Amino acid sequence: MTTLRGALIGCGFFAVNQMHAWAQLPGASITAICDRDPARLAAVGQQFGIAARYADAETMLREVRPDFVDIATTAPSHRALVELAASLGIPVICQKPFAPTMADARAMVAACEAAGVPLMVHENFRWQSAILAVKRVLEAGDIGAPFFGRVSFRSAYDVFSGQPYLAEGERFIIEDLGIHSLDVARFLFGDAAAITARTARVNPAIRGEDVATMLLAHAGAMTSVVDCSYATRAEEELFPQTLVEIDGAAGSLKLGPGYRLSVTTSVGTRHEDVSPELLPWASRPWHNIQESVLLIQRHFVECLRAGSAPDTSGADNLKTLALVEAAYLSAATGRTVDPATEV
Ligand SMILES: NC(=O)c1ccc[n+]([C@@H]2O[C@H](COP(=O)([O-])OP(=O)(O)OC[C@H]3O[C@@H](n4cnc5c(N)ncnc54)[C@H](O)[C@@H]3O)[C@@H](O)[C@H]2O)c1
Repeated sequence: MTTLRGALIGCGFFAVNQMHAWAQLPGASITAICDRDPARLAAVGQQFGIAARYADAETMLREVRPDFVDIATTAPSHRALVELAASLGIPVICQKPFAPTMADARAMVAACEAAGVPLMVHENFRWQSAILAVKRVLEAGDIGAPFFGRVSFRSAYDVFSGQPYLAEGERFIIEDLGIHSLDVARFLFGDAAAITARTARVNPAIRGEDVATMLLAHAGAMTSVVDCSYATRAEEELFPQTLVEIDGAAGSLKLGPGYRLSVTTSVGTRHEDVSPELLPWASRPWHNIQESVLLIQRHFVECLRAGSAPDTSGADNLKTLALVEAAYLSAATGRTVDPATEV
């Protein structure tokens, strides 16, 4: 099996996790890196022993001609970088949020489709092992057909010290974190035909909203509530755990604090510890996210080798992004929004 040669653009806060995961994955390795910021480029280059370092993405991609490119920059830069990769025929894995606008996102998907270039979004929360465990229980049919779900993320963790840009944007929690929760809701309950959202800004030191409560209408009677907050000071700080509750016709399940999965049916309740693995390079409390980075990057490599579409392809992510845009529109107008036709 040949090793796929990758190049990474953006050596910032989160890219270090991606670099660790690439280093651990058999069959792929990062051979060149790029960042406009020389200090960040040097730091990641030294930490991971990468000598091929570039300040300019186009120069890197033209010289290195990698088998894939990992775009680890923030959203405003994605369209130019994805279109560049598409024009050079280089497969792409791109961080979330995929794009600041639906127009940019659609243009990236179209550019890659036209060029026949695989495009995956690094939408990793559905790859957390606890979320995968929930999906397995649902698919096994133990609790019957679901009719109600809740995907919840509530915390007061200081995300701003590691990612100062999060405090500066007009949008915050739905675009940064809620996007993951909405994707998990799609993953577990299917697409939503309508969304109603309310938002609030509790922390006066930031610009965007830090609380959002969203109601989603899925197929049939299936309804879910997706709620997220970075303004919730709780007895137990659960960052970055996503909690899930699902009621079905034959039982219910709960993914509770501490990765405790409870499944209740007519024969009683069973409990399972679905804690993520603490990878050698991981650190608590980030280890569930770090494990999901390894799993999603493995999926990307498998799809490249098989020539199959990734679960979180660019085309799939348009639907998650549409929910984000629809949530903001709903919060601004006070009405229910159809993500398929109104954004
Ligand atoms: N999936 C997750 O769990 C997760 C977690 C945290 C962050 N993220 C996402 O990862 C992305 C990056 O976040 P971050 O906190 O690491 O950001 P960051 O600002 O720390 O790092 C981004 C880096 O990209 C560089 N850069 C930007 N545009 C560039 C360009 N055109 N060419 C070369 N270098 C360029 C910047 O100089 C910077 O060093 C964001 O979109 C964020 O939402 C995802």
